[in-house]
Amino acid sequence: MSVDPDWLDRDAVTDRLRTAGCVFAEEEADLLLAQFTGPELELAVLDRMAGEPLEHILGWAEFAGLRIAVGPGVFVPRRRSVLLLEQALAHLPRHGVLVELCCGAGALAAAVAGGRADATVHASDIDERAVACARENLEPRGGQVHQGDMESGLPTALAGRVDVVVANAPYVPSGQIDLMPVDARDHEPLIALDGGPDGTRMQDRVVAAATRLLAPAGVVVVEASRTQAEATAARMLWRGFAAEIVTDDEVSGTCVVGRRSVR
Ligand SMILES: C[S@@+](CC[C@H](N)C(=O)[O-])C[C@H]1O[C@@H](n2cnc3c(N)ncnc32)[C@H](O)[C@@H]1O
Repeated sequence: MSVDPDWLDRDAVTDRLRTAGCVFAEEEADLLLAQFTGPELELAVLDRMAGEPLEHILGWAEFAGLRIAVGPGVFVPRRRSVLLLEQALAHLPRHGVLVELCCGAGALAAAVAGGRADATVHASDIDERAVACARENLEPRGGQVHQGDMESGLPTALAGRVDVVVANAPYVPSGQIDLMPVDARDHEPLIALDGGPDGTRMQDRVVAAATRLLAPAGVVVVEASRTQAEATAARMLWRGFAAEIVTDDEVSGTCVVGRRSVR
């Protein structure tokens, strides 16, 4: 494959990305130019112009200062989920046990394991491509990854012994998936996005799993959208948790923290 060298300089790549609608064209151009050259760079730019997520092209996403491996067909960790990480860490006791359900690439679990050598960290997802990425990200940091529907793939010995269950489960209302940006809608799997009619169906399954996994003083932390957080909190209340909505405007994050009402 022959490549016109003028096509691949920084300005040209930036222009092409901007024309294709990339808001952060300059930053994206720098990342692509740092990783690819020649025909590979040309293909990477064409893929990006066609709407493929930058992170799938690069093969990694930045999350909480870590480089997280993320392959095609796997949900790209979002910056807003740093709030979920902060809340999970705030409630994790020394030598505590944390489980990330619906872990995708396992970014949250990897960040916990990387920063808290005292903690025992497990992560689980139903999708084998996500599980493969999570293994790459979490196992070198000392955590364990499992595959299954919700908590079904976890060691049974964890039941009733977990200090923190954390999850960014799918929470887009089914009827709003068609309105999502093309990067997500066309390149992230439906199973990673679809939260049922009001977006809280999978969150409710996480909370139900938490009732089985958590130790008596354990905490469940679930990411939500700002508009649905009240409904997510209501799901938690119904399942016996005292629920608190936490927001962070800087990262546009929202999560709901559930503590068992009886402690
Ligand atoms: C929104 S993505 C979040 C991934 C990751 N937590 C993150 O924030 O980057 C939701 C994840 O839930 C997983 N998932 C969907 N249904 C599931 C189920 N029934 N059991 C376990 N995982 C599930 C998907 O495969 C996907 O990886």
